[in-house]
Amino acid sequence: QNARESLYIVSEFAAGFFANELWTGDQGRAIGLSYFKERGFREDIVKKFQLGYSPDVWDALIQNAISAGHKEEYLEKTGLAIRNDKGKLYDRFRGRVMFPIHNFTGRIIGFGGRTLKTDKNVPKYVNSPESDIYHKSNVLYGLFHAKKAIRDTDNCYLVEGYADVLAAHQAGIENVVASSGTSLTTEQIRLIGRFTENVTILYDGDAAGIKASLRGLDMILEEGLNVKVVSFPDGHDPDSYMHHVGSGEFKKYIENNRKDFILYKANILLKEAGTDPIKRAGIIRDIVESIAKIPDDIKASIFIKECSSLLQVEERILLSELNKIRMAKF
Ligand code: GTP
Ligand code: MN
Ligand code: MN
Ligand code: MN
Ligand code: MN
Repeated sequence: QNARESLYIVSEFAAGFFANELWTGDQGRAIGLSYFKERGFREDIVKKFQLGYSPDVWDALIQNAISAGHKEEYLEKTGLAIRNDKGKLYDRFRGRVMFPIHNFTGRIIGFGGRTLKTDKNVPKYVNSPESDIYHKSNVLYGLFHAKKAIRDTDNCYLVEGYADVLAAHQAGIENVVASSGTSLTTEQIRLIGRFTENVTILYDGDAAGIKASLRGLDMILEEGLNVKVVSFPDGHDPDSYMHHVGSGEFKKYIENNRKDFILYKANILLKEAGTDPIKRAGIIRDIVESIAKIPDDIKASIFIKECSSLLQVEERILLSELNKIRMAKF
């Protein structure tokens, strides 16, 4: 049994321990399970994603793992346990609801733990550190549970957080992954590209989410994938919106509010620019910059046409702008 295998095994043990605490532990049931209930998550979803609870004590997992014959070394190497400066081990995750992170073959490689406190000084999520089996930039939360649906629908919804993945499944949308814990990486986009060429961004409707969506869509275009965006009103994220409108309405909303990236970007930028003509010229350039990232010339020319009719600018002007940008890169 090699060292990586030992890390998978201890991670799977930990997931089992956290799940058992959630469903049968006094603290887990009173605090963890009722937390998911209050947020409106169904039990079948909690089970499907093997969610759990880490008791609010220093070494609950460590004690259990050691008595079950697991070695300290592997608890430490997965980051489940941390050694303090006196040499004593303590649990990384304490008093949090636990989201196991699977690789795309379904093995558990890490965890996200959400605090139940509203105290602003406590980080909302704590995640496993990088390890020999967990490389954040190569992992998409939910991919294992999504890959079949991504292939079947030939589309992948991309959300920000763990809760958004759960909410989508609860609404019957299974082709969904989250970049959780990092901002979207090129490796993550290539991973999606193994299953489909079509990505739909469903990021939070707050300033951070909108900014991340603009960055994300450029990166997706650069990898040669097609990208659409659904935005959410009033600072909602997919999870809060699903619980706000209900699962049926949520599904309809997603299906009816997909915008292609040009329209999405134009809407955001036009709102910012108002009537200032100089700013409006800047928008045109900004959109053409996104189009310039598309490696396929035929696709790019289709978007130039769309941009031309949407923003009432002659196609040849947009094309010369496109060429300028491409020459500058070259
Ligand atoms: P909920 O409040 O549980 O619905 O979480 P959320 O997913 O809506 O959180 P948010 O939109 O604030 O953040 C999106 C994702 O970023 C989360 O799911 C986490 O993966 C990550 N994240 C959020 N807060 C933190 C944090 O304090 N530390 C770390 N490391 N990651 C975070
Ligand atoms: Mn957010
Ligand atoms: Mn965020
Ligand atoms: Mn959010
Ligand atoms: Mn949320």
